[in-house]
Amino acid sequence: MTQNRFETVTEDTIAILIDAFYGRVRRHPTLGPVFEAAIADNEWPEHLATMQRFWSSVMLSSGRYSGNPVAVHRAVEGIERSLFAEWLALFTLTASELFEAGPASEFITKAQRIASSLQLALFHRLGDPPEGLARKSAA
Ligand code: HEM
Repeated sequence: MTQNRFETVTEDTIAILIDAFYGRVRRHPTLGPVFEAAIADNEWPEHLATMQRFWSSVMLSSGRYSGNPVAVHRAVEGIERSLFAEWLALFTLTASELFEAGPASEFITKAQRIASSLQLALFHRLGDPPEGLARKSAA
């Protein structure tokens, strides 16, 4: 089966990716419940609009997004490290289905980098002693 994939990243093709990706996220067995608990049905259009601005800023340097993703994700109930691999797998699948190899890998590389820095910010605390070492007492 041949399928026409998008060759270029534009506001319109980003919108199609966002719709497809979050459609799948909402039906996903482990990601779905976390998103559904954080975003009420009537708030989804606003979330999708925010994500459109975010990816437009990331991929097209449009400057349309301003926000603090770290703070927002800190407040997401039930977010955990293992979910990031599932998020990335779903995003990779969706980007690869919709875009030609070049733009797909650009989306995927950016998503991987952002996911890594989000995980660092959320799950590592600066100043923690290295694994296995007791913190020295101040006294
Ligand atoms: C385990 C993985 C993830 C989960 C469960 C998750 C969940 C969520 C949820 C529930 C929100 C909406 C929060 C709210 O409005 O109250 C949100 C917002 C957002 N997420 Fe994620 N997310 C994940 C990974 C990512 C990744 C990898 C990226 C970027 C590549 C990302 C980018 C964003 C952005 C930009 C927002 C909007 C922040 C704002 O409101 O300014 N998320 N996420």
